[in-house]
Parts: sequence; C-alpha cells; structure tokens
Amino acid sequence: MEIKKVMVVGSGLMGSGIAQVCAQAGIDVYLNDVNHEALDRAVQSISWSVGKFLEKGKLNEAKEAILARIHPVGDFSAGAEVDLVIEAVFEKIDLKKEIFGQLDRHCQPRALIASNTSAIPITELAAMTKRPQQVLGIHFFSPVPMMQAVEVIKGIATTDETAQIGKNFVKKIGKEPIMVNRDVAGFVINRINFPSTIEAMKLVEEGVATVEDIDKGLRLGSGRKMGIFETGDMVGLDVTFGAMTAMYQETGDPRFYPPLLLRRKVKAGHLGRKTGRGWYEYDSDGNKK
Ligand SMILES: NC(=O)c1ccc[n+]([C@@H]2O[C@H](COP(=O)([O-])OP(=O)(O)OC[C@H]3O[C@@H](n4cnc5c(N)ncnc54)[C@H](O)[C@@H]3O)[C@@H](O)[C@H]2O)c1
Repeated sequence: MEIKKVMVVGSGLMGSGIAQVCAQAGIDVYLNDVNHEALDRAVQSISWSVGKFLEKGKLNEAKEAILARIHPVGDFSAGAEVDLVIEAVFEKIDLKKEIFGQLDRHCQPRALIASNTSAIPITELAAMTKRPQQVLGIHFFSPVPMMQAVEVIKGIATTDETAQIGKNFVKKIGKEPIMVNRDVAGFVINRINFPSTIEAMKLVEEGVATVEDIDKGLRLGSGRKMGIFETGDMVGLDVTFGAMTAMYQETGDPRFYPPLLLRRKVKAGHLGRKTGRGWYEYDSDGNKK
C-alpha cells in the first residue's frame, strides 16, 4: 500500500514539522488539534519554514501549492479517507491511549496508525485498537524538516508488511528509516542518548561544570552541532521529562529516573524555548540571551 493521504494528530512542534515534510513530498495532510490556536500557530510556522527552504533553493514548488495540501481539522472524521495517521500529542500515556481508541473507531479498516512517541511502548497503544497488526512507531527527530533520521518501530503485533509500508513512507518523504525490531523503552536513539543526557544534568546538579561549559565541550570535543542542554531547550524539558518517566516506568531501571534538577525545572514551568526559559534564557524572538 502506498501512503497518499495522512492525518497528523497534534499540531505542536513535532506535528507541524511532520505535516510540513509530508506536504513537501506531495502528500495530502489533515492536521488535527484540540487547540485552535495551536493549529493557527502550526500553519504560520510551516509557512515560515517552507519559505526558508524556498529561499535556499531546496524546493521546486510554490509555497502556496505546498500549503494547499495541509488541511487543519478539529475532529477525526478525515480518518475515513487517510492511509496513515501519525499521532503527536503530549507525551502522556493515558491521553495517547484514549486517542488510539478513538482513531481506531474513525479510521478506515486498511489505515495504519502510528505514534511519534519518544518512549511509550507501541504495543500498549496498539492494544487500544482492533488492528494492532497495523500499529507502529514512526519516531521523528526535532527539528523535523532538518533531521534526516526517522525510527520505524514494531510493536509485538506489528506485521512485517506494516513495518515495510512505514519504511517506504519514510523514504517517500525524503528521510532515512532506522528500523527498530522491538519496542524496547526509548527505542534506539533515545536509549543511547538519554543516559548521557541524565549524566550531564547530574554533573550540573553536583556543581562539577556549568550548562554552558558542558554544551561547549560537547560541541567542540564530541562533534555535536548542538550541546545536550541546547537540544533539550529546543525539544522541551517537559517532553524529555515525559520520555524519561516512561522509560523508567517501563524498565524499573533507576538509570532512567529524571534527575532532580529536571523535575524542579518542569514544576517551575521552565520548559525551554517555548516558555522563554529552560537551561538557558531566551528573548521574545527566541534568541538565547
Ligand atoms: N519535542 C521533540 O523534540 C520530540 C522529538 C521526538 C518525539 N517527540 C514526541 O512527539 C510528541 C509531541 O511532542 P511535541 O514536542 O510536538 O509537543 P507539543 O507540546 O509541541 O505539541 C503537542 C500538541 O498536541 C495537542 N494535543 C493535546 N491533546 C490533544 C488531543 N486530545 N487531540 C489533538 N491534539 C492534542 C496540543 O494542543 C499540542 O498542540 C510527544 O509524544 C513527544 O514525546 C517530541
């Protein structure tokens, strides 16, 4: 089955990026959110980002043609015509489970349902549907229009055919699939990255080094484009907290327990770029102070 129409549920940082890369690849997208302001913001940010790609000569189509493929919607009725749904709402397991149950009722029988979750088990979401064989993880990295890797994750019931359709879809939108054969906590990339992220936070907590110096060291000594804390502010501290909590709950492994400093910052509402303050502070244009 070729994916020609997609619905993206959740139009935040990730959902808007996913809708954009689908539209740029010629795919019709229904972009859903419960929050109308979030939908308006998503359309604006997609328009800005498509404009940047056009300025750099990276797209061969007019902005209007790309934007015309994105249809903002407030309900799931488009599920009756799409081939694939990608869920990208908050990293909260109960919310995602509820949405998977609803999507299963609205989607046509052959449609695949995917989650962009960072760490919630695909199998648990699939169990909320009557089509667990057609449920998979399609995990993008931020910022979606720039990052090439996309993990394609099999839950316990996901068929090879579903995983193959997911892989073909990722290639169709110009990304590189990373196949993940079992939905272990954190999948592959976060499973590798989170222990070093936690270690970096603990080093700050213990006063061993500053946020700025750790990021500088990682940029200049480890070949990273962005430091751990710079990336963390872009991703959102609440998102990282949600993913670490899910990994800890799933494994019971204290290595994944969110450090105190992260827990306190989330409680204080210091969530990164989106709130103007996280590991760093930002002005109203989103530039680091
Ligand atoms: N931020 C990242 O770097 C990143 C990277 C990979 C994966 N993820 C995962 O992607 C998902 C979304 O993350 P994000 O950073 O885009 O979050 P976000 O907070 O930017 O956006 C979430 C959106 O979901 C919407 N939403 C909430 N409940 C909804 C519902 N019932 N129906 C429809 N929409 C609803 C919200 O209004 C919001 O616009 C999470 O599961 C996260 O773990 C995030």
